[in-house]
Amino acid sequence: MKERIFIGVAWPYANGPLHLGHIAGAYLPADIFARYHRLKGNEVLMVSGSDQHGAPILIRADQESRSPQEIVSKYHQQFLDCWQKLGISFDLFTTTGTQNHAQVVHDIFLTLLDKGYLYKDRTLQAYCPKCQRFLPDRYLKGVCPYCGFSEARGDECDQCSRPLNPAELKDLHCVLCGSSPRFESSEHFFLRLSAFQDKLKEWVVAQSHWRRNVAGTTWKFLNEGLKDRAITRDIDWGVTVPQVGFEQKRIYVWFEAVIGYLSATKEWAKFHHEEQAWKPFWQGDAKSFYFVGKDNIFFHIIVWPVMLMGYGGLNLPYDVPANEFLTIEGKRLSTSRNWAVWLPDYLERYDADPLRYILSANMPETGDSDFSWREFVRRANNELVATYGNLVHRVLSFAYRNFDGAVPSPGDVDSQSQTLLHEAETMLNDVDGLLYHCRFKEAIREAMSLAQKANRYLDNQAPWKTIEKDRQASARSIHTAILSLSALKTALYPFLPFSSEKLHSLLGFEGSPSEIGWKFQLLAEGQKLRQPQPLFSKLDEDVVEQESSRLGSACDW
Ligand code: MF3
Ligand code: ZN
Repeated sequence: MKERIFIGVAWPYANGPLHLGHIAGAYLPADIFARYHRLKGNEVLMVSGSDQHGAPILIRADQESRSPQEIVSKYHQQFLDCWQKLGISFDLFTTTGTQNHAQVVHDIFLTLLDKGYLYKDRTLQAYCPKCQRFLPDRYLKGVCPYCGFSEARGDECDQCSRPLNPAELKDLHCVLCGSSPRFESSEHFFLRLSAFQDKLKEWVVAQSHWRRNVAGTTWKFLNEGLKDRAITRDIDWGVTVPQVGFEQKRIYVWFEAVIGYLSATKEWAKFHHEEQAWKPFWQGDAKSFYFVGKDNIFFHIIVWPVMLMGYGGLNLPYDVPANEFLTIEGKRLSTSRNWAVWLPDYLERYDADPLRYILSANMPETGDSDFSWREFVRRANNELVATYGNLVHRVLSFAYRNFDGAVPSPGDVDSQSQTLLHEAETMLNDVDGLLYHCRFKEAIREAMSLAQKANRYLDNQAPWKTIEKDRQASARSIHTAILSLSALKTALYPFLPFSSEKLHSLLGFEGSPSEIGWKFQLLAEGQKLRQPQPLFSKLDEDVVEQESSRLGSACDW
């Protein structure tokens, strides 16, 4: 039965380049999942966009002495370029700066207001007497009241991930000038999160398929009790508040950014001239998956579902397979200290698939994982080049040289060959099941183990020896090995789309593996192969040294 799968991916702030933490945390798993479901013949819609509002953008604009619009336009372009080079196959990657988005946000705001889920109240807002402005939460730092982390931000603690209010922090100070802010009264709209505590619990209890760490984080929030939260801000950059008297204020960035999932779906529908085409992805039996990093769990599992429940008639998330963090060379990633691997830099120097490989094989699914350049080079060379790439090359060049560049006839199949074919089929089934359940790391390991088995099979069969006295035996080994390559190009396509495309073509097929679907594509005897070419190139050992030395050094943006 055909499934309908909505895939929402966290909206990156358009205030700086993407780094490997973003990719391992959300974009790569989302893309693997989307490609897999498309191969399965399911209807997939994967959307996201640049998050162009909020204090993070203003901070960057201040630093670069540019307008917020210039900043977001620059990074939005850069994001699009990265998706293309890394092969992240969005159906739409838009921004929160569109008219359409503002309209959808206003509709949700007004509906929630109408239903009594929003209310007005006065709050104390941090005001910096020296800078003479209200300070957004992110312009404030202090000590986390829960875990004691001294660099906690006004909106959230980076150490314990708890959402915070600036007033809760100790030793509060303005990020811009360091002085202590005073609090001034200001009127804002609040979302009645507290009214949804029980309904939310009931829903969460039923989600037995969620990852253990995601469920754990969710229960931590629920057990602490949901508090109402202000959803407007004293700021002049963002989606306007559709209420008289609020002309100087804007909707809080998180409240409107999550609405992007819905507004992007509507934009996608309009673009395809089918205004109503958004509905099947938001109503009925469609399943919605949200790929986000663990610091985004609160907004996707608590706030967004509350907004959806309040609005009514739209699907709640089916799953939020949030990943943990990726550390870099054993240390926590930090953009301000340039302890990060920037995606545009990476893509300028290296191919996409080795990165997709290492991040999939080492995905921070159930706990943090580490990226190091030494491991990157080692695994790319030993696993991609030596195991997979070499298998492909030795099989195809042997066939090319000895069997007229075509798939030789299998003849009678011996038991070793039968075993390998059986293992190829089992692998496809197993990887299918693992991907269905968002178990990416195990899935790629399972797929790669077929390459190891096929190498061992070849060593045992030694077609380069049998070709001398028993040409038919040699043909059978090569035929069987070629079939295993066909299974590999399908199973690895979601992870390594570029090399799967290449292998598909080397095997003599036309078009793309994406048109074939999730199946063991067989090759007829006599099918013409294309001139063999290596799938991957070996990385120089010097890469480790060169790249590690860039970490932590001053960067030029
Ligand atoms: N811009 C936020 C961040 O980078 C993520 C927003 S996800 C959204 O952390 F769904 F709210 F848009
Ligand atoms: Zn904390």
